[in-house]
This record gives sequence, C-alpha cells and structure tokens, in this order.
Amino acid sequence: MKTEERILIIGDTHCPAMHPRYTAFLRDCRNELVPTRVVHIGDLLDFREISRFQQNPNRELFRAELRRARRQVEALVDLFPRADWVLGNHELRYYKAAERSGLGSECLQPISVLTGVPWRTHRSGKLLIRGIEFHHGDQVRSSAFPAAALAAARGRHVVLGHHHSKAAAGK
Ligand SMILES: [Fe+2]
Repeated sequence: MKTEERILIIGDTHCPAMHPRYTAFLRDCRNELVPTRVVHIGDLLDFREISRFQQNPNRELFRAELRRARRQVEALVDLFPRADWVLGNHELRYYKAAERSGLGSECLQPISVLTGVPWRTHRSGKLLIRGIEFHHGDQVRSSAFPAAALAAARGRHVVLGHHHSKAAAGK
C-alpha cells in the first residue's frame, strides 16, 4: 500500500522582507494540511547587502540585514523544524560574494550555520521527490508559463519558484 505524502512548498520569502502575516498563513496551512514533508523552494533570504548590484558593500549593513532576517527565519524554523531547502539565486549571493573577494566559497561557514537554519540544503537549486522536480527556477528562461515550459522540456511534473507572479506547478 502506498503511503500518502503531502508536501508543503514555501517559496521566495526573501527574509527580512517576508510578509508580516506569512508565518500565520503557513501555520494555518500546516494545521489544515498536516504535511508529511516541507520544501522551501529558494530565496529564503534576500542577502541584499551582498548582491553584486551593491556598489558599496558594507559589513555592518550585512550584519544588520542578517540579524533581521534571522528573526523571521527563526519563526519559520519553529513552525517547521525539518525541511528541505533548495537554494535560490539570492542564497547563492553568499557564495558568489566570497568568490568575488578572492576568498573562495570553500572557506565559508555553512549557510545553515550563518543563518541558523537547520534544514537540509540543496545547493544545486533542484530536488527530485518521487519523480517531481522542485526547482528554484532562476536558470529557467522566463516565459508566460515558465513552470509549464520546464515541465514540457523535462517530461515530468515540476514545481517552480523564483518567478513570483508567474510561479506555478506544471505538467
Ligand atoms: Fe529567485
């Protein structure tokens, strides 16, 4: 007999810019749906202050952003102590900043330690669960229906983040 799996997908929270009522919304979802598994599909954090667009990166501003982000992230971790975390392009800013500095990302502390998020990370930006591809989506060409386009190209169900207003499940 197949066991039923209910996967709750969270995407593009961009902490510390997460909507103030989003945690309450997720609590309602958790209580109603009783998920067996949780996937954050990327851009959990924004990392604005270490973006390549930032002309004058400043350590204190980054630390302040991280402190504010961690307060929001803690609320999510309280709700969901276990989850998979597919890293998005905003999380990759952490590694790219280290590469630009010449330090190299191998010298960094794990992103789970930096952020206080104990979830299982997937730096490839993808995760396959029972033949369904969970994909952050920043590598997918933008189109009117990027999830449907990727699903057609892959020949499998796809759940896509990143595109915000366009994100959707496709087949
Ligand atoms: Fe993204």
